[in-house]
Amino acid sequence: MKSIFREGVYAGKAVFVAGGTSGINLEVAKGFAASGARVSVMSRKQDNVDAAVQQLKTAGAEAIGFAADVRDFDAVKQAFVETEAAIGKVSVIVSGAAGNFVAPAEKLSPNGFKTVVDIDLVGSFHVMKAGFDHLTQGDASIVNMSAPQSSHPYAFQSHVCSAKAGIDMLTKALALEWGRYGIRVNAIQPGPIDGTEGMERLSPTPEIRRQIEGMLPLKRYGEKQEIADLVLFLCSPAARYITGAIIPCDGGQALVGGGTVSMGLIPTPK
Ligand code: HXC
Repeated sequence: MKSIFREGVYAGKAVFVAGGTSGINLEVAKGFAASGARVSVMSRKQDNVDAAVQQLKTAGAEAIGFAADVRDFDAVKQAFVETEAAIGKVSVIVSGAAGNFVAPAEKLSPNGFKTVVDIDLVGSFHVMKAGFDHLTQGDASIVNMSAPQSSHPYAFQSHVCSAKAGIDMLTKALALEWGRYGIRVNAIQPGPIDGTEGMERLSPTPEIRRQIEGMLPLKRYGEKQEIADLVLFLCSPAARYITGAIIPCDGGQALVGGGTVSMGLIPTPK
């Protein structure tokens, strides 16, 4: 389906997408680009950055990219400094860099737990804190990528559940503080989305996918573009009175809860 956002909705605006070189976040970057924005993407690997920037440029957008790890505050800060120099102050920050793997808590090393918390939660703080001085105050918007794991416990996802629950509270805390600057801060919880690295891990076979789809009220996986459309809505004037919201985009999964591993659909990881 074509996006509901017409060309030009974000004309003249600059957008920064952390993690925006693959998966859902690249689709979000493309959505902003297609709606007229100048786009800056950042992720760890230079090859991914180069490929994403090329795709965005081929689609006709003004785009730049930076290789930086969200765990490295100074590198994130530098990416914002160079973004502002190249495409101006940003109206939108999307913080979507994330790490995930399936691991029983008793086998998860302290460093494994810390790594995911550092990428997802501390990384989101780094992105928002580093981006603050580079936002157009008055009409700015931040969207953090949370996950269903923030609201429902998932077995073998203790690290992700903890990190994403932290992102939700960080979102609300900064929404409370930064409303006075005209900066809205929201988070979204993408459910099972087709063609993503996360779902390749959490639903590794067609049979498991069918079982998950059977449990979802809308009976299908979502599309990356459906997440992009929600982000574009949240950052648009149509959502100007929404801040501090944690919004599921999940085919109704939040109503039935639980994870694929928790439900016994995939075996306990060794
Ligand atoms: C157990 C693991 C592990 C695994 C890594 N570790 N992978 N432990 N099982 N499969 C442990 C390591 O042993 C190490 O601890 C620590 O984690 C750090 O690992 P490194 O590989 O050194 O770290 P790094 O190179 O920084 O990579 C971090 C990573 C990364 C998280 C593992 O590779 C990654 O981000 N991969 C997946 C990206 C991804 O899937 N993104 C989409 C997320 S989707 P020790 O103790 O050995 O030093 C999402 C939402 C899903 O988040 C929602 C679906 C509905």
